[in-house]
Amino acid sequence: MKSIIQNYRNLSALMDNPINFLDNMASNGREVQRVAIGPKNFVLVFCPDIAREILIRRSSIYIQNRSIFDKIKPLTGDNGLVQLAGEPSKKARFIARSIFSAQAIQRSTAIIKKNCEKIFSKLTADSEIEPSKLMTELVLENALEIFLGVEDKGTQKTMGEVFLKLHELCGERMLNPFALPLSIPLKKNIEVKKLSSKLKKQVSEHLNHSSDLPEGSIPHALKDNPNLIDHCMTFLFAGHETTASSLAFTLLLSAQDSEAQKVIFDGNKDEIISVYKESLRIYPPAYMLVRQATQNDKFESLHVQKGDQIIIGLKQILSSSKYFSEPQSFLIDRFLNKNSEKTKAFFPFGLGGKSCIGEQLAYIEAKVILQQFFKYFEIEVDNKAIESTPMVTLHPDPGQKIKIRRRLLC
Ligand code: HEM
Repeated sequence: MKSIIQNYRNLSALMDNPINFLDNMASNGREVQRVAIGPKNFVLVFCPDIAREILIRRSSIYIQNRSIFDKIKPLTGDNGLVQLAGEPSKKARFIARSIFSAQAIQRSTAIIKKNCEKIFSKLTADSEIEPSKLMTELVLENALEIFLGVEDKGTQKTMGEVFLKLHELCGERMLNPFALPLSIPLKKNIEVKKLSSKLKKQVSEHLNHSSDLPEGSIPHALKDNPNLIDHCMTFLFAGHETTASSLAFTLLLSAQDSEAQKVIFDGNKDEIISVYKESLRIYPPAYMLVRQATQNDKFESLHVQKGDQIIIGLKQILSSSKYFSEPQSFLIDRFLNKNSEKTKAFFPFGLGGKSCIGEQLAYIEAKVILQQFFKYFEIEVDNKAIESTPMVTLHPDPGQKIKIRRRLLC
């Protein structure tokens, strides 16, 4: 009886705040542990070597966790890349590579610069801004234009609104293990289904009206693919909030660190990326990776049972003093000097055959946006802790603002 109560306490703690729950579990120092959470058994992993085994070497045993991935189907369609496994996934990933060709990256960079100019020129000097809102607006515009070729302002606005609302509702469903299937006509389920059909319709109408889709966009790369609409939605989903949150965190951290701002303003590419990586380490958008075991397995003395749910605590690995010295500090040159322990433990874009396909684009987008922002502005904030909440991704709590001042150029 006692253990049943404890299992449901675990479930309630996980639902309340997955990061706090995992921090607490990791604090006993056991890098892999099996624990009951509600009615299911989980294996929690806080060790980069075991994470590598699961995500790379034994990936055929550890498949996507269906109870999580099914809940994002309204956003990704049934057959978007993130939902695929095995050969169909490999094939789609191979074809989608062309959106990261040199020519495509050049086009994406130009779009990002143009949108930065437009959005940053509207900001009033000596005012306060909310980095999270600013980056959500900018990165969504970039994603719609880069991935789908949507240039028209009106279409960007209507598609963006539907997408953001749907994203929020799916996030709530994803974190709720008791969320009832969409086929049950609850008010929120009906809304999710309506928004999902609306987004699909908007994407499909846009594709029908666009005769000349740009090279580097998803419709160009996957034009004959029967799951084109699902892939378009998946790229919007996967490429938007992750990038927007990570950049908002970088601004919030840099607002307390004038050296970071100086490096982004006049540093070289490696130095700027080092600042961004350190922000990804402290606030990894994908704070945990989830899988499920399809057969019995073993890590050292720990037995994994077929059907166990796996959580890789990425946030805990990235904050561990075993792999990173002074893990709570924002050390902007941490990633300039390479060391193998650190490299092994730093994988904010995942690992293996289902790792992030957009990693390079994310780095390019971050570099361009940060450089453009600090070209015009210096920022500051009262020295207080940054508040964040783990939803589908880890994001800054709303309402956190920074002061911006126009940069004085000599
Ligand atoms: C800071 C930005 C980003 C972070 C931290 C991030 C992180 C991740 C992670 C950890 C995964 C693997 C999830 C897993 O193993 O379960 C993933 C998958 C994915 N990401 Fe990203 N991502 C970012 C930006 C992007 C961008 C810009 C794109 C768009 C080009 C993108 C597209 C995708 C796609 C399509 C997948 C699924 C790949 C597959 O299932 O085969 N991501 N991302």
